Amino acid sequence: MNEFYITTPIYYVNDKPHIGHAYTTILADVLARYHRLLDVPTFFLTGTDEHGQKVQQAAEKNGITPQEQCDQTVVRFKELWDKLEITNDKFIRTTDANHKEVVQEVLQDLFDRDLIYKDEYKGWYCVPCERFYTEKDLVEGKCPECGREVQEIVESNYFFRMSQYQDWLIEHINNNPGFIQPDHRRNETLGFLKQPLGDLCVSRPKSRLSWGIELPFDTDYVCYVWFDALINYISGIGYRRDDAEFNKWWPASTHLIGKDILTTHTVYWPTMMKAMGIEMPESIFAHGWWLVGRDKMSKSVGNVVNPMDMCEQYGVDAFRYFLMAEMTLGHDASFTEEVFVNRYNSDLANDLGNMLNRVNKMIFKQFDGKIPVVTLEAGDAEKELQKVTLEAVEALKQSIPSMKLDAGISAVMTAVRAGNRYMEQKAPWVLAKEGKMDELALVLYTAAESLRIIAGLLSPTMPGKMAEMRAALGVPADQIEADVEKLSHWGELQAGAELAPIKALFQRIDKKQLAAKEEPKQKKAKQVKPENVVELIDIEDFGKVQLKTAKVMEAEPVEGADRILKLQLEVGQEKRQIIAGIAKFYKPEELIGKIIIIVANLKPAEIRGVKSHGMLLAAKKKKKLTLVTVDAEDFPTGASVG
Ligand code: MSP
Repeated sequence: MNEFYITTPIYYVNDKPHIGHAYTTILADVLARYHRLLDVPTFFLTGTDEHGQKVQQAAEKNGITPQEQCDQTVVRFKELWDKLEITNDKFIRTTDANHKEVVQEVLQDLFDRDLIYKDEYKGWYCVPCERFYTEKDLVEGKCPECGREVQEIVESNYFFRMSQYQDWLIEHINNNPGFIQPDHRRNETLGFLKQPLGDLCVSRPKSRLSWGIELPFDTDYVCYVWFDALINYISGIGYRRDDAEFNKWWPASTHLIGKDILTTHTVYWPTMMKAMGIEMPESIFAHGWWLVGRDKMSKSVGNVVNPMDMCEQYGVDAFRYFLMAEMTLGHDASFTEEVFVNRYNSDLANDLGNMLNRVNKMIFKQFDGKIPVVTLEAGDAEKELQKVTLEAVEALKQSIPSMKLDAGISAVMTAVRAGNRYMEQKAPWVLAKEGKMDELALVLYTAAESLRIIAGLLSPTMPGKMAEMRAALGVPADQIEADVEKLSHWGELQAGAELAPIKALFQRIDKKQLAAKEEPKQKKAKQVKPENVVELIDIEDFGKVQLKTAKVMEAEPVEGADRILKLQLEVGQEKRQIIAGIAKFYKPEELIGKIIIIVANLKPAEIRGVKSHGMLLAAKKKKKLTLVTVDAEDFPTGASVG
């Protein structure tokens, strides 16, 4: 790869940032840092989307001007990005003079070429989503996106001739499988494109909305916020201003987005680019959503996770690590403080922190805080740890282009656990007692070298803590930034190098404190739950369980686990992997093509090291088990069951 240009969506400034915004920005930051580590010239763009109805309404509510609303809220985003150690190369605001001018030039150019025209429009408008719909788009008369009331509107407006690019777009998506990722999102867009594509309304009359970029050819109108916002991806790197800079970074490598803004990015944006005559980005990657427990995050429910609070309480690096390790890219993930603390304690405090503390302390005690001289040849155990560590380097490298970051991180944690096992097996504390100093030197060097590589691999995810860790392993101060050559090469730690002393890298979190915080809720739950009685539930409780039809596309055994099978399912447009404990009852080949029922909104779990996104339903009595299936052949998948 020659250059890497990554973008995040630009965030609305109607409210302060939450965990969803933090997630995409951290993900972009981690990917940018990995590419810089690989010596790939990198540009990382983020920013804020400051026009439109949402911002105007927030300003009205707060009794300030829209510009004041923007200027105040943008500070909250910038402060958070500083706190989270985000290394964006540019922060774009759509109220920047340059961006506004570029948008106006694009509008004028398309208007001059008759790609934008004026027409009368009758339709339905959803205020919160700022989207127009035709009668047939509505679901039971309501907004198809958010389900809220829509308003009927008749007015003259300007339209972009989006419809003329429909066939081209379908062909482009089919010819470039990596263009929309993951696969199920590509299918979603192709599904959307099965309907005739209309032209896109790109104006709003000022009488209805004044907060926007004025149309250069009609001052009674402002530009539709999405048409303005999408152009940030090119105005931010010198489009129409600095050809050399623009051509250096464009086309973008990856536009990272959330799944809810798929159509704007995979239909509106490509057709806009086509009309402008610029190349298509390599990929548009839509990640899933963070749920809180099983619920959607919402201000009215009061369950919005504030990233600033998480950083204050648990540290920036742990927060970054959790978000990257926990979400399988493309799927939703569940956030609760309990899941956070469990992962923190097991991965960071127990596995990684513990091994570093042991190695650092023993080198201080036995070798005066200096990397020991190794005189013995490496034995099988040393070679094995070296092999596992270097395998983690490869796994992580491969996980970046395939956007499987959680799998890459998990491979690194496998190496950490192998290191801990090595320490247990070699028991350096016993070697020290017995005065076997040559063996002790070999063991501590091997463990430290493995940790040096691991710290380098995790440095894009946890930049601060991993720099501390490398210093605590004797990496010289001028080489604290990981270097890719040295990462793939075993034996870089130099005998005599001085270690920085370290206290616990990650303090264990006392779960009792967490339990204390949640005590009132639990008490209440205990009081109402009768013992040894079949508990009756409300229809609302049942409504929380999302049951869906799914088709088994592939099935295979899981190595080393004879009870479970790994299934690949088709659930509507989506592909899913689940693990099921049915290996004793079904052969893999018997399952292919069966339409089964799954619990679709179960928190993802890891079973024997394999991720499971849901659970199938089966009836079981004594030694008999049968799958719950549907009473019709070739029934559609993704249908809700209830
Ligand atoms: N301003 C538009 C984007 C314009 S890009 C040219 C916008 N802004 S937003 O602030 O509402 O949302 C920004 C991003 O946050 C979206 O990608 C959205 O998917 C993401 N998230 C919002 N809530 C989220 C979660 N709960 N979890 C993960 N990401 C979510 O849309």
